[in-house]
Amino acid sequence: MRVLGIETSCDETSAAVVRDGYDVLSNVVSSQVDLHRTYGGVVPELASRNHLENLPRVIQEALQRASCGWDEIDAVAATYGPGLASSLLVGFSMAKGLALRLGKPLVAVNHLEAHVHSAFFGAQKPRFEEVCPFFALVVSGGHTLFLRAEGLGQYRLLGQTIDDAAGEAFDKGANLLGLGYPGGPAIDKISRGAAPGGPEFPRGRVRKGGQARSGGLDTDVCVSYSGLKTALLYYLRDNPVAAGSPEVASIAAGYQEAIVDTLLDRCGRAFTDERCLVAGGGVTLNSRLRARLKEFAERQGVRILLAEPAYCGDNAAMIAGVAGVGQWIRGDQAFSLDVDPSLRFGG
Ligand code: KG4
Ligand code: ZN
Repeated sequence: MRVLGIETSCDETSAAVVRDGYDVLSNVVSSQVDLHRTYGGVVPELASRNHLENLPRVIQEALQRASCGWDEIDAVAATYGPGLASSLLVGFSMAKGLALRLGKPLVAVNHLEAHVHSAFFGAQKPRFEEVCPFFALVVSGGHTLFLRAEGLGQYRLLGQTIDDAAGEAFDKGANLLGLGYPGGPAIDKISRGAAPGGPEFPRGRVRKGGQARSGGLDTDVCVSYSGLKTALLYYLRDNPVAAGSPEVASIAAGYQEAIVDTLLDRCGRAFTDERCLVAGGGVTLNSRLRARLKEFAERQGVRILLAEPAYCGDNAAMIAGVAGVGQWIRGDQAFSLDVDPSLRFGG
């Protein structure tokens, strides 16, 4: 089964063709990063207008690269949430239109489930069911989730951030450090050359009384990154540094360590009898996080599946992949769905 996937939940316009859930025939990603850089963040109106302009070309290219004609597509899948409402609308409406025109099923996909699936693309990767139950970490610009997957489409949310997402913490920290946008890659890069002995930043524990803010989840498995950002702000106020000086690298490294260490600590608290550790989302591109997750899996004696770099950030292959492995929301039910910007994941 060949699925055409469409992803427009934030600032990447993407289309892909995936065969039987795992075999990526094409994955075209058109990034809007340059467009939003001037504003230091994603401007929703610009993002949706840009999706509208680029999506038809991106879809054509995905079909071409997959050497796939319209008549060879068996289903059309698109993200319907979570994400920016106006951006989601562009991709999901396009998918509805294409599915109707082609007379093929429409599949509505949860973007967060797709980030988990992205870790299963690549040579020598197992099938989803082969590693269940597994522990999943989704770390992106908008989300930080700790999950347990029992089977296809069966997830339990164990913990999450109560304020900023890990990617957001990277982006805001980089902004304070004058490292530009997006901040994650900039902090990752500069930290690699840092001298040891940089400052220590807080590890974002959630107080027991914070149960309401954690949505009833175990506060020990939840994260708070807003205090970390404030700590950096005060540190820079009290210890001004010149842009581009070696101190910036060591502060960035200390800040990165706090973000990564917090994630690892929560993985340690939430992990039980899972057979595998799976991680996806833009922040899994981070070299320090990748190294620490590998160490963690080795210590636990479990298999690790990290999304390959091409599939960490937002992409449509992961959308088409999810649609190819299960019977998700499809048919008339999908057609009557509207986009859901705050769609939840992991019941
Ligand atoms: O998954 P993604 O592309 O979009 C969302 O669904 O949000 O994630 C984007 C996030 C941004 O916050 C970006 O700064 C972060 O991923 N990111 C990184 C790295 N590359 C991208 N964070 C840390 N280190 C990186 N190398
Ligand atoms: Zn994402």
